[in-house]
Amino acid sequence: MRLLIKNIGLLVIDQHGQSCLRGDEMARLDVLHDAWLLIEDGRFAAFGEGEPAISPTSDLSPLTSHLSSLTSIDAQGRAVLPSFCDSHTHLVYAGSREGEFVDKINGLSYEEIARRGGGILNSADRLHQLSEEELFRSSMTRINEIIRKGTGAVEIKSGYGLNTADELKMLRVIRRIKESSPIKVVSTFLGAHAVGRGYSQSQYVDLVVNEMLPAVAAEGLADYVDVFCDRGFFTPEETTRILEAGRKYGLRGKIHGEELAPSGGVEVAVKCGALSVDHLESMTDEDIQLLRGSDVMPTALPGTSFFLNMPFAPARKMIANGLPLAIASDYNPGSTPSGDMKFVVSLACIKMRLQPAEALNAATLNGAYAMGLSRDYGSIAVGKVANFFITDPIPSLDYIPYAYTQPIIRQVFLSGQEV
Ligand code: NIG
Ligand code: FE
Repeated sequence: MRLLIKNIGLLVIDQHGQSCLRGDEMARLDVLHDAWLLIEDGRFAAFGEGEPAISPTSDLSPLTSHLSSLTSIDAQGRAVLPSFCDSHTHLVYAGSREGEFVDKINGLSYEEIARRGGGILNSADRLHQLSEEELFRSSMTRINEIIRKGTGAVEIKSGYGLNTADELKMLRVIRRIKESSPIKVVSTFLGAHAVGRGYSQSQYVDLVVNEMLPAVAAEGLADYVDVFCDRGFFTPEETTRILEAGRKYGLRGKIHGEELAPSGGVEVAVKCGALSVDHLESMTDEDIQLLRGSDVMPTALPGTSFFLNMPFAPARKMIANGLPLAIASDYNPGSTPSGDMKFVVSLACIKMRLQPAEALNAATLNGAYAMGLSRDYGSIAVGKVANFFITDPIPSLDYIPYAYTQPIIRQVFLSGQEV
């Protein structure tokens, strides 16, 4: 199977092969003009400027070209970019929480709503009542929505089950999504999202460590383990215990930290060798220093700050200190009911003062890193999986975050197939 996209006005490519971009590197976006892009067997095979270096009869890859003909698409001068890599979502959920949205308008905070038994526990009550089949169907609607909006790889967390059976139900739904959708999915076990109803704090942490984690591992249902390490949820000590237990099953950490208050989440992430630490709205200068020289990807969730009217993570400071930065949607029913990564890129520019190039790298290659996927996803590089989109006509790449509600993503390709 060969696909040639020709007559591309702006083609965003990656010729460096780095697993992520840090500090000043984040402003680097390599662009070809008047370009072409060749895909073979679902992966990027070649690109260049000017006339394509191949014709329908040429033999770029002797092994495969004789087996199939070449399909070609005229991009008519439009832009081609790598698909977004959304490294933090909770998009498997039941029902919605617009009542709490109105409570927030009336002055209640996210934490007050949680203390009254709303928030995550509200979603857990609804999920408890929904069958696996119904949960799968409602989640697939969201998956199809984010695919149309340009996301090609997504991380999905459990964490609205809050008992063993319902956590497993969520993770099985995530596995079914993996098996039935062309989007790339990674799965994270977030049993420690909140203390489930009927348990004390310590009983619940014991349950996560002694019952949930072994059951999740026995079915091979998760790629990562997460903990909501924050004021009113789980302490750094509990987080460390859960991450160390996860490591015994080969699960690396991806944790929620420094959202509602400076929580010690960054320190735990660095100490336990987590893949990412996410939120960071309340992170300190010491946290930034701790992250320097580590492999942990700091991940900002600007949609959450926007929706909850909270401070934004100090993105400029992180980049000025040479850190990498990923941005993700946090798609969930409570703090961010949106998985629109183009809007997240706009918010990162408008509210965190990222340059458009920095925001696009944060939403693609660095997001792929935060899912452990950057060898195969996150940029248009020869050999990577051909996940990309073609826009409407746009004057420049800066136009993408500037036109912050315009749906400019016109054609989406996953593994080289138009969806
Ligand atoms: O990342 N902060 C913790 N968890 C989610 C919100 C979950 C919810 O409110 O349902 C988040 O924002
Ligand atoms: Fe989250």
